[in-house]
Amino acid sequence: MHDRIILAFESSADETSVALVKNGTEIISLEIATQIKSHQRFGGIVPEVASRHHIEQITLLIDAALSDAGLSYDDITAVAVTYGPGLVGALLIGVTAAKTIAWAHQLPLVPVVHMAGHIAAAQFVAPIEYPALALMVSGGHTEFVLMQSEYEYVVVGDTRDDAAGESYDKVGRTMGLDYPAGKTIDQMAHQGVDEYHLPRALMHDGKLDFSFSGLKSAVINLKHNAEQRGETINLQNLATSFQNAVLEMLLTKTQTALTTYSVKTFIVAGGVAANRGLRDGIDQLQVQFPDVKFIKVPLALAGDNAAMIGAAGDIAYRHGKRAGYDLNAKPGLEF
Ligand code: KG4
Ligand code: ZN
Repeated sequence: MHDRIILAFESSADETSVALVKNGTEIISLEIATQIKSHQRFGGIVPEVASRHHIEQITLLIDAALSDAGLSYDDITAVAVTYGPGLVGALLIGVTAAKTIAWAHQLPLVPVVHMAGHIAAAQFVAPIEYPALALMVSGGHTEFVLMQSEYEYVVVGDTRDDAAGESYDKVGRTMGLDYPAGKTIDQMAHQGVDEYHLPRALMHDGKLDFSFSGLKSAVINLKHNAEQRGETINLQNLATSFQNAVLEMLLTKTQTALTTYSVKTFIVAGGVAANRGLRDGIDQLQVQFPDVKFIKVPLALAGDNAAMIGAAGDIAYRHGKRAGYDLNAKPGLEF
């Protein structure tokens, strides 16, 4: 059997990334150029700045990915690319690069949904056995995705307002931290105590939807009221209280989801899956579900990268998914 080599692109937000992935499970090369520094002074991603960085980086990263691997275009089976969701101008750079290479080298073009990529990063740890359930938790999404079989994605729980990562970033901004604030809050949270009582939403409904905006507002109000009274907030303790609230919501709903759906594999994926507290909590939950294979995506592959797009691209490729040269960026794409 021939190895399948997928050349994959990711450019939906502030990471330009190109990867070569073998048979959906092995990273041959992975290049990531992050633009975080350029966006930090604006407190979030500036779309126009993101597009310009992607344009500057993408061809360099393609060359680097191929030369790192010692491969040429002749070795590639298919080209996979994130076509949504994300920033339209940012997505278009990856989509255009992928289309150009697919056309120039007459390779199949495989469109990938960004979240499917995050979930497929689990394949770098262990094979996903189906049915499988994923907690997909990032800056743009907080959802449970049920996969009865491979390449069949059904969202069975979703956030009604902010995504978990988004709430980290917004709370971080209130705390005066740099964007993106998830990692910093996670580190601070491990050093503080749960001093402030913060609300948890939708905890006892037995359903799988989330809401994070009330928690964010509670933090903003707490800070505002303290300032009015001339009191100072202990930011480390605030980080602990905030993270405890987020984790309790994520883990309680995960427990409900695993009780509701009988699955063989549970995956935690997305940028927030890098959270140390969440990873520890998931490990503890494993004890209650000994028959389910728990996969945490690798720490280094939790955030946006093209290797995960290569893994999801390999699945899509095997299922015959193809795009034409009219493939367009879809900023609001869902599964
Ligand atoms: O998946 P990702 O790289 O991009 C999206 O698809 O959104 O996720 C980025 C999000 C940001 O909101 C960031 O603050 C959050 O993931 N994040 C974390 C941690 N590391 C990154 N949130 C909590 N704890 C972390 N350690
Ligand atoms: Zn992402």
